[in-house]
Amino acid sequence: MRMKKNIVLIGFMGVGKGSVAREIVRQSGMIAIDTDDIIESMENRRIKKIFEVEGEPYFRKIEARVAKWLRESVKNTLISTGGGFYKVPKLKKIGTVVLLDAPFETIYHRIIDHPNADKKLKKRPLFQDVDKAKTLYDEREPKYRAVADIIIDVSGKDYERIAKEIIAKTSK
Ligand code: S3P
Repeated sequence: MRMKKNIVLIGFMGVGKGSVAREIVRQSGMIAIDTDDIIESMENRRIKKIFEVEGEPYFRKIEARVAKWLRESVKNTLISTGGGFYKVPKLKKIGTVVLLDAPFETIYHRIIDHPNADKKLKKRPLFQDVDKAKTLYDEREPKYRAVADIIIDVSGKDYERIAKEIIAKTSK
């Protein structure tokens, strides 16, 4: 059995945190949760709606509450997060922080070349304008790296391989 520490997947919008999480679940049998899903359940409305009606600072406050709960109450779980979750206080206390890393162009194409591109874009309030998203990416990239325990370069790799790498590196 692998150790009891949580795995926390961080990275920019659209990098594939959810898809990688599902593949880790398939390979390892771990239980997985997603911070955006938790927030949508708590609020009983979509992230997009929360941003529209309450604004971003409100959303960030809920993220911090979720982080506190994860830290205090969740173990041995795979946690995928929203792209801004890396900013919560004491992130590393939640578990081993794994950054899924890729160039902006790769991420952008992963979204717009997807058959459900419209849906993928619409649900992300901070990805409405490409130039703004790129600026946000440039601003965040060094911060993601600074907080990560493990950095996985995901470009050109399939989910199976990425998941395998993460399982191997977090089982040591
Ligand atoms: C955000 C990323 C989104 C979601 C919210 C804010 C961000 O999650 O949490 O729209 O600040 O990067 P994904 O990374 O799953 O798109």
